[in-house]
Amino acid sequence: SAGVITLDPGYKNTGSCESAITYLDGEKGILRYRGYAIEDLAEKANFLEVAYLLIFGELPNKEQLDKFHSDIKANSEVDEDVKKIVDSFPRTAHPMGVLSSLTSALTAFNPSCVDINSEEDMYNAIVKIMGKFPVLAAWTLRRRNSKPYDYGNASLGYVENMLYMMFKKPNEEYKLNPVVVDALDKLLILHADHEQNCSTSTVRIVGSSHAGLFASLSAGVSALWGPLHGGANQAVIEMLEGIKEDGGDTAKYMEKAKDKNDSFRLMGFGHRVYKNFDPRAKIIKKSADEVLGDLGVEDPVLSIAKGLEKQALEDDYFVKRKLYPNVDFYSGIIYRALGIPTEMFTVMFALGRLPGWIAQWREMRLKKEPIGRPRQIYVGENLRPFVEVSKR
Ligand code: SDX
Repeated sequence: SAGVITLDPGYKNTGSCESAITYLDGEKGILRYRGYAIEDLAEKANFLEVAYLLIFGELPNKEQLDKFHSDIKANSEVDEDVKKIVDSFPRTAHPMGVLSSLTSALTAFNPSCVDINSEEDMYNAIVKIMGKFPVLAAWTLRRRNSKPYDYGNASLGYVENMLYMMFKKPNEEYKLNPVVVDALDKLLILHADHEQNCSTSTVRIVGSSHAGLFASLSAGVSALWGPLHGGANQAVIEMLEGIKEDGGDTAKYMEKAKDKNDSFRLMGFGHRVYKNFDPRAKIIKKSADEVLGDLGVEDPVLSIAKGLEKQALEDDYFVKRKLYPNVDFYSGIIYRALGIPTEMFTVMFALGRLPGWIAQWREMRLKKEPIGRPRQIYVGENLRPFVEVSKR
């Protein structure tokens, strides 16, 4: 009755956009960052190289990479007063809520990062957040574990430093395990960007109002938190643990997932775009076997996960709906083997997605895109006369 509004085809920035950063083909299970296959990048590049590639469009040479890393290190200090904000949270607060708040709070301590009027302004804001975000993530974990907040070790690599800041114990030397570093580096690469997903679209639309980069990223952290999005990696492990506690009866949970009267979903399965295997899930599944083998970790939930995957791939309900494992299905098993607590899994996703969010924000700002303004099809009431309360 309301009629249908024909959207003006010229209406710009309605939530979809042109982008040159990430290409994915959901039917064929293809994912490329700036034209490079995810399989090549995961095997041959390191995370900071991929971050540079996503943000600036080209793989860096050694000099460019070294300068990027040194500029990040030079900007990784976080104002001491931010520690008072960390301390104000209950130790049981979910790390994603803490991280989103701390990321937004950075604006107050770095006001120069709000008015972006040049590529130099942009670069300064980018190296600041690339340096400070891992510190905030580490402090978030250390708050939960009642450990002192510290800074990294400038002699370490970007990913090594993340582990060092999260797990170094006072008065003890922290020994980095190369298997752990390599596994985390690969996971971060696989999470680095994924075109216009929920959290990236959030960063772009908040950034399109010219709110600062840190405020835009804080909104992206909040969007990623949801269990249907980045929060799924935590939900997968909780689901697998529940199945294990329930005697490992995967068939029962397959039926629950198909029961329309049951809200239970097979977490880590399905995708808005991939209607084929998520290429990242393939790589992570292989890496899970390698990492757990190298670390000598026996995790019963890995065999439960593989059992669920096998059953789903043979089940009409899942096959017909093209529900395959996604990036979140196996990643938590590796994080757990690396000693990362479950409630930090989505923070690890955010650490990986940071350069993708930055790249997408930078692209939107460089293209001087107008403020985001999705349109709607109005399906509500037509015009009607007001009725006095005495007559309602
Ligand atoms: C990420 O967009 C991105 O790129 C995201 C991401 C990234 O890198 O940024 O890839 C990261 O968020 C991965 C997704 C993580 N989320 C989960 O694993 C949560 C579990 N999966 C879902 O809830 C679901 O599959 C979504 C949210 C991912 C997609 O939801 P949709 O678009 O609503 O799913 P759909 O419309 O394609 O579903 C089609 C059918 C429906 O049944 P019918 O109404 O047709 O009978 O499949 C069913 C759904 O009910 N279905 C599931 C299911 N996912 C979809 N049934 C059981 N278990 C599931 N997981």
